[in-house]
Formats: sequence, C-alpha cells, structure tokens
Amino acid sequence: VSAGGLEHIVESKDVVVCAGSGGVGKTTTSAAIAAGMAARGSRVMVLTIDPARRLAEALGLPDAGNQECRVAPDRLERAGLDGDAGELWAMTLDAKRTFDDLVVRNAPDAATRDAVLSNPIYRQLSNAVAGSQEYMAMEKLHELHESGRYDLVVLDTPPTRNALDFLDAPSRLVRFVDSRSLQFFRASGRAGLGLFGRGAGAVFSVLKRATGVDLLRDLADFFNAFGGMAEGFRDRARAVEDLLRADRTTFLLVTSPRTAAIADAEHFHGKLVDSGMPFGGVIVNRVRERVEVDGEAALRDELGELLDASLAGKVLAGLDDRNRLAGRDAANIDRMRREMADAPLLTVPELSGDVHDLDGLAAVVRRLFAG
Ligand SMILES: Nc1ncnc2c1ncn2[C@@H]1O[C@H](COP(=O)(O)OP(=O)(O)OP(=O)(O)O)[C@@H](O)[C@H]1O
Ligand SMILES: [Mg+2]
Repeated sequence: VSAGGLEHIVESKDVVVCAGSGGVGKTTTSAAIAAGMAARGSRVMVLTIDPARRLAEALGLPDAGNQECRVAPDRLERAGLDGDAGELWAMTLDAKRTFDDLVVRNAPDAATRDAVLSNPIYRQLSNAVAGSQEYMAMEKLHELHESGRYDLVVLDTPPTRNALDFLDAPSRLVRFVDSRSLQFFRASGRAGLGLFGRGAGAVFSVLKRATGVDLLRDLADFFNAFGGMAEGFRDRARAVEDLLRADRTTFLLVTSPRTAAIADAEHFHGKLVDSGMPFGGVIVNRVRERVEVDGEAALRDELGELLDASLAGKVLAGLDDRNRLAGRDAANIDRMRREMADAPLLTVPELSGDVHDLDGLAAVVRRLFAG
C-alpha cells in the first residue's frame, strides 16, 4: 500500500474487524489501529477480547468488561498518540453480560426475563448456546456502532483455533433458535414428560432422585421462555450479519509471517471472499527484518581482531541466524503477495519485548500508518 498505509484502507469505514488465528497479534493491532485513527482526529472505540493484563492497564481498562472507557488524553500525549479532535475509547468484552442484556432486551415481559436469567440451564448453556464469545463480540459491535457515539469501531476477535468460527456465529445462533431440539423442548414444556420416550423419562427421574435437580423441568422451562424470544434473536442476528457485510465495514486479516499462519490466513481470506464479506487487506505482524550492518566485511575483520575467534564467531553467527530468519519471513511474505494478487499488505516488525504499553502501541501505529 502506498500513501497513508492503513489510513487509506480505514478512513472511509465505520467498522474494522481484525481477524486471524490465535496469538498472531489481533488484540495488539486492533488497539494500534484505533489509536492511530484517534490520533488522526476520529472518535474511535476498540472493543478488545481478553487483552493481556498489562495492555489493559496501559489503556486504563477496569477488570470488569462492557464498560466504555476513554483513554486519558495525557497518556496518549506522552506516547505521541495525541490528535486534535480525536478520542480513543476502549472496552473489554464481557460475553456473558452481553448475552444477559440481549435476553433483557428481547424478553416480552419481566417474568420471562427473570425465568431465563435465573434458569440453571441458561447459566450452563449461555456459552454453548450463543457460539458465545464470537457472537457476543459481533452483537456488542453492532450495539456500539448503532449508538452513533463513534466514527469508527474496531473489533478485536476471540482467540479461536479456527478463525472461521467467527464468521459462522450469527448463522449458528439462528440455527439454534430454529433448531428442532428447541422446538421439541418447548413442546415438551407444554405437554409434560409424555413427549419423551419412557426410557428418557426414566433417566430424568433417576437423575432427579439422585441429584435433586429437575433437569427436565429446567430444560423445558428454559427452552419455553427462550423460545418465545426466538424472533427477536433471529432479527438481531440478521442485523448483525448485515453490518458485517456492509460497505463501510472491512475485515483485516492479521497473521504472522510463519508458513502455517500464512496458510491459515489465505484459507480465511478465501472464505471471507466466498461468503461476501468485505476484505480490506492483510497485516503481517512480528516480521523479523534484516539487520543491515554497514561495511559488514570490515566489521568481521574488526571483531576478529578485538575478540577471540570463538566469541567473534558467535556474534557473527547470531547475525547470520537473524538474517536467515528474516530472509525466510521475506520469502513467505513475497509468496503471500503473489497469492493474494491485489490485496493491500502491510507489515509490522517484531519489536523487542511485548507490546504492553502505549509506547509499544505507538511503535506499531507508526509502522501501520507509515506512508
Ligand atoms: N509486533 C510485535 N512485536 C513484539 N511483540 C508483539 C508484536 N505484536 C504482538 N506482540 C505480542 O505478542 C503477544 C500476542 O499478541 P496479541 O495478544 O495481540 O495476539 P492475539 O492474536 O490477540 O492473541 P489471542 O489469539 O490469544 O487473542 C502479546 O504478548 C503481544 O504483546
Ligand atoms: Mg487477543
């Protein structure tokens, strides 16, 4: 990418989603993109998922999630990340609370709401049911976007082993809402135990006697109350999906320069395109770059004279190793460029030490937004 690097990709967007496989730097890049755009005058919210503790502290985020927190302007200024009218806001996702809020919003009445929220099955299932973190992240994104408080919302994504889980989350929720088991349990709630075969009924009775938990009843109650909200959930999942496909949304793929990570990213890119999601570009993070030594031959001679041979050899071998890895990364990146013909591709170098404070973020910002 030429002029403006990332700014060029992001400036006309309301929503940026940073996706990629585990541990590649999604949270770091999301925060950096948000900080960079805030420094360029936008009001930006970054919705983070499980940020490392020190990064959360650097952003001034409390332990509890789902709170919109503005990053103090003086902190940004000290890191050189201040901008005129810009504001940087951050939030950590609390998936459970987001789900509870959805129930509250969709419940037809207070009794249904309380029945679902206090139901032991709901508490057990609220993870499984929602495909949870993935879906709840999108749900929160939708809510923040709709609030109109931000020019841009940047969404970090959960550390799924398979980044595609994320794309499937809305349809998984719809499938659950429409599922036969949900219909079945709703019906059985009305009809009582009779709908179960005798065998199943007996199992539930034994369970009840053994544990004191009336599992069947809890299940039926839950599905009955939850089923009544199906329509609301289905509409919402569609709205969330529409937002992900909107023109003013873009997906950025974050990857490391390792062969396996790049293969994952290319696969994910294919799926994004197939499912009609807007793709903005690739960020290759933690690239090991060549260390160019001025007058390397002279340096080798000098080291040879200063140090004993084995020590000089170790220093030079370290340099060679480093450059060999850099060469490998560069070759992988070249291959990826060819593979994804016209996709914008940005690189961020491996920085020394983790990126856990605003100065570290500022270094990533400089790289991403470089012209
Ligand atoms: N360019 C970089 N240079 C050095 N360290 C980095 C760089 N980018 C990220 N890191 C570090 O790598 C670790 C993983 O980064 P991060 O948490 O952003 O990844 P992630 O993709 O969000 O991980 P997860 O999938 O677990 O959520 C962090 O400790 C972070 O500080
Ligand atoms: Mg992360």
